[in-house]
Amino acid sequence: MDPVMNPFRPGAGRRPPVLAGRERILASFDVVLRRAEEFGEGDRSWVVTGLRGVGKTVLLNELMGQANVRKWIVAKVEASSSTPLRKILATELVKAMRTATGRHPNGSHLKRALGVLKSFTLKLGIEGITLGAEVEPQHGVADSGRFGHDLTALLEVVGEASLDFGVGTLILVDELQEASSSDLEAINMAVHALGQADVPLPVFFVGAGLPSLPAQLAEAASHAERLYVYQPVGLLGSDDVRKALVEPCLDLGATWEEDALSAAQHVARGYPYFVQSIGKHVWDLAPGPVVRADDVLAGSALAREEIDAGLYRSRWERATAAQRRLLIGMAQLSRENAVEIGELATHLRKARTSDLSVARGELIKKGLVYVPERGLVAFTVPGMSDFVLSQEE
Ligand SMILES: Nc1ncnc2c1ncn2[C@@H]1O[C@H](COP(=O)(O)OP(=O)(O)O)[C@@H](O)[C@H]1O
Ligand SMILES: [Mg+2]
Repeated sequence: MDPVMNPFRPGAGRRPPVLAGRERILASFDVVLRRAEEFGEGDRSWVVTGLRGVGKTVLLNELMGQANVRKWIVAKVEASSSTPLRKILATELVKAMRTATGRHPNGSHLKRALGVLKSFTLKLGIEGITLGAEVEPQHGVADSGRFGHDLTALLEVVGEASLDFGVGTLILVDELQEASSSDLEAINMAVHALGQADVPLPVFFVGAGLPSLPAQLAEAASHAERLYVYQPVGLLGSDDVRKALVEPCLDLGATWEEDALSAAQHVARGYPYFVQSIGKHVWDLAPGPVVRADDVLAGSALAREEIDAGLYRSRWERATAAQRRLLIGMAQLSRENAVEIGELATHLRKARTSDLSVARGELIKKGLVYVPERGLVAFTVPGMSDFVLSQEE
């Protein structure tokens, strides 16, 4: 079918033509938006977790889009291990406030919030953020130099500004597992403090990351379990895979034969990234307008190659020989699940589990594996174990 019309979008953060299987979480978000607007009240913040490629970024973008349509104050950032979160967040908050100034030109709270933001950035020594000479720093607020306290104070004034406009403030942090533990601690502190008020301000925080994130947050604060609503984002059920493949085609006048569809569902295994990749290649190959099983067979072979190249190979190539042995051991012990580190040591004929510490630590840093809970290790990408086994000579 015409590749120019291809509706599917494999690739990190790329918006799928149909966001399947996320109705419940979107409905909950709608409640958050409406409670903030109708009662000026904030809700418990969220932590969205899931493996790579399940659709966390796309979901965050969807939340951001909905809040933007409603003229909220919205800042979305991506945490990274190389830049402190305070800097990334401050930069984006400046932009968000500028947009808010455009949307709500006469807000006196907004002016104050900008002033507080200025003293916040000055105190933290964050350079390269220009707020304009006309903005007077508000000394004594958000400028203690302690990120947790200052973030709390800053979000308070920003929250008050949004309350003033009858909207809320939405702060989204993607890849939150990359943030330092002191940044996580500061976020916990701010989220906790904001939730303490009789009527919490309409400031809503959403962090997204790998499934190790809840444990990282808990390490940074003892009460983190109760601070957040955890929203795991998982694989799609077979009805949702069907919907994700069929609906975008229907809109363009193409349909799927039943056995073509079940073949595609079988290959996709509920994994959103696969769904997009299969959809894309099948579309390009199929003569159409009816997609047949043969098209799926040929298309999934290409999808497989694309996924190997884009998702697995680059990760595999970043691993050293010792790290690869560990990955192979993991894949041999379990195709789908986390592996116990003690069992892995025995399997790899190591005397002690600590003999694996260096390789394991490096693989975690490179983002290939993560620790779902103490003593376990798992792949960050679904299907990685199959690839690893195929690489073993
Ligand atoms: N609910 C969904 N339905 C269909 N496709 C999806 C869905 N969520 C994500 N995708 C697709 O999956 C791929 C990965 O999404 P992304 O948000 O980058 O995942 P993550 O951030 O979890 O690694 C993208 O190609 C995206 O279009
Ligand atoms: Mg992502």
